[in-house]
Amino acid sequence: MDKIIIEGGMPLKGNIRVMGAKNSALPVMAASLLIQGKSVLHNVPDLRDVKTMVALLRMLGAKVQKTESHSYLIDASTCNQFEAPYELVKTMRASVVVMGPLVSRFLKARISLPGGCAIGSRPIDIHLKGFEKLGAEITITHGYVEARAEKLKGADITLDFPSVGATENIMMAASLADGKTVIKNAACEPEIKDLADFLNTAGGNICGAGTDTIEIHGVKELNNAEFSIIPDRIEAGTYLIAAAMTNGYVTVTPVITAHQESVLEKMAEAGIYLEKNGEGLTVYRKGTLLPINIKTMVFPGFPTDMQAQFMAMACIAEGTSIISETIFENRFMHVPELVRMGANIRVEGSNAIIAGVPSLTGAHVMASDLRASAALVLAGLVANGATHIHRIYHIDRGYELFEKKLATLGARIHRERDVSNEYHV
Ligand code: EPZ
Repeated sequence: MDKIIIEGGMPLKGNIRVMGAKNSALPVMAASLLIQGKSVLHNVPDLRDVKTMVALLRMLGAKVQKTESHSYLIDASTCNQFEAPYELVKTMRASVVVMGPLVSRFLKARISLPGGCAIGSRPIDIHLKGFEKLGAEITITHGYVEARAEKLKGADITLDFPSVGATENIMMAASLADGKTVIKNAACEPEIKDLADFLNTAGGNICGAGTDTIEIHGVKELNNAEFSIIPDRIEAGTYLIAAAMTNGYVTVTPVITAHQESVLEKMAEAGIYLEKNGEGLTVYRKGTLLPINIKTMVFPGFPTDMQAQFMAMACIAEGTSIISETIFENRFMHVPELVRMGANIRVEGSNAIIAGVPSLTGAHVMASDLRASAALVLAGLVANGATHIHRIYHIDRGYELFEKKLATLGARIHRERDVSNEYHV
């Protein structure tokens, strides 16, 4: 196990490159299973979760080759397995998005039911209801969910909640079904549109992705495709906040502003200046950070994946902020760790009330989930003294070379082996 150590107090300065979006790369890689040929994917981030998805595709019989540092060649014509096993799904619940492609192409799939995770129970009932509407028979036994179908037939499906994963899974399942499927109350995140763009590049017939109504006209087969993943809006947002918190001056590139208007508006409210700079944004501030009130919503509302990072910033704002988490039932795991660093945060149900303090102090803290870990790094960048962040494998799931990239901006940050958990009592 590794840990990250940060000596706070350095303003970040310079340029930082944003990689491809984790939450687009994973479903697009799963969608390659629909193609009885080759997919060439570019701008795929180098992350633990991507490595896990590569392992899963290989387990299902696909050939996967890393052709360049951020490019993969996937040949799913050799696919001959239909099961995503427990030991893999438990490490990455996003594995569940292989279910739609498998049941669409092979009319069967057996996936370990993803358990909960640090941020919530995260059921998949909306996914399964969608598959049933398309004609699949769902059975759940021994912790596995099985989907079987004679054939899949297009249907009108209204989601109980605009679930990102369910929208992706159902869209993929419908892409080879007979006839037209309309998904209403669909998720509108940019990653959904990116997945539809990939499927259409492969010969799919999908329109409306990115809106709450998506029409999928099933096709006979999907063909070889070459595709580049959109930039990661959450990685970009994380670096923008890091620069603002440290009172630095950083250009983050590329940033597709249409993918994060609600985030950029909240930054402006906090007294942060953002200037267009080519394909990127230059971020700085002129005065203190101002408090903000945030309620996480589905896209285009404020993204839950930026909630922890904004909370870290609110800890040192001049005034009291209120952050309400409406998407996940337990996404305040970073609160007790921030409090250990001197933050003044009170949680009341799904609301966190953050009274800004003049400064935070370095401490030993524990990462719990991907974005909570990022928030602890941000807090460490501004804290007085040294912060040791333990269990940072969470960070490696979603941020490529996180501490190295921050170090290029002047942060005093490094990774080392964590011997603390080797105590034997
Ligand atoms: C995706 O997760 C992202 N992950 C998450 O990012 C992100 O936080 C989330 O969307 C919301 O934007 C990937 O894309 C790999 P949901 P997903 O289905 O698809 C409930 C990160 O940090 N729900 O939109 O699992 C669910 O419990 C990760 O990068 C059901 O009740 O999110 C949650 O409360 C974390 N039944 C809410 O909907 C279902 O069948 C949103 O979940 C499905 C979801």
